[in-house]
Amino acid sequence: MIHMKEVSKTYLMGDTEVKALDRVSFDVSKGEFVSIVGPSGSGKSTLMNMLGCLDTPDSGEYCLDGIDINHSTDRELAHIRNRKIGFVFQNFNLLSRLNALENVEVPLLYKGLSARKSKELAYKYLEKVGLRGREKHTPKELSGGQQQRVAIARSLVCEPQIILADEPTGALDQKTGHEIIGLLRELNAKGQTIVLITHDPNVAAKAGRSVRIVDGQLYCGPEESQ
Ligand SMILES: Nc1ncnc2c1ncn2[C@@H]1O[C@H](COP(=O)(O)OP(=O)(O)O)[C@@H](O)[C@H]1O
Ligand SMILES: [Mg+2]
Repeated sequence: MIHMKEVSKTYLMGDTEVKALDRVSFDVSKGEFVSIVGPSGSGKSTLMNMLGCLDTPDSGEYCLDGIDINHSTDRELAHIRNRKIGFVFQNFNLLSRLNALENVEVPLLYKGLSARKSKELAYKYLEKVGLRGREKHTPKELSGGQQQRVAIARSLVCEPQIILADEPTGALDQKTGHEIIGLLRELNAKGQTIVLITHDPNVAAKAGRSVRIVDGQLYCGPEESQ
């Protein structure tokens, strides 16, 4: 599903170079639940942006679902993001003026689905994440955990090949965070491929497999020494 080989990304901060990703090789198979754990500033979000085709590598190879990302145009990348990837973020990124149902409908309407079909699917996915009866609530009328459930429903609704979750529990209390990870585990048990990014080793340990990132370098296994 994901094949990344020796991917590097350097940012220029004034006149110092920051190697955000340093020859990262990373593979994910269909149906896996993999966590990427690392301290703040280690390159997690940079890697997520790369995996999510929001950014392209300076060097190295990236193939997603058999498509060579390095040689795709911006238009093709946008298409790949819409069709293949579901994003979940720390701060939910919901549209505050829209209710839960409308937030979940957004990607479907973008995709050109009819209003009726979009509504029907949005209801179905809100139910899947345990939010039946909350469809008409706006984000501020929902708890953090419920807002993240809406965001997960929105990420699922286009039936993505893979879900990329960047610190999905970062803004939640521990108990709610566990519930969200529980939901991701349930989705994975039904076949959804998931990559979870977190700085929290306890959260990372809930995935089927864990890799570690330190100073832009990826290591297999959570405890492996450098
Ligand atoms: N757009 C950017 N411009 C300059 N430096 C950046 C940019 N994005 C990230 N960095 C730097 O790259 C490193 C990795 O950042 P990031 O991937 O956001 O880490 P994490 O998500 O693990 O906290 C950090 O040193 C950060 O300052
Ligand atoms: Mg980050």
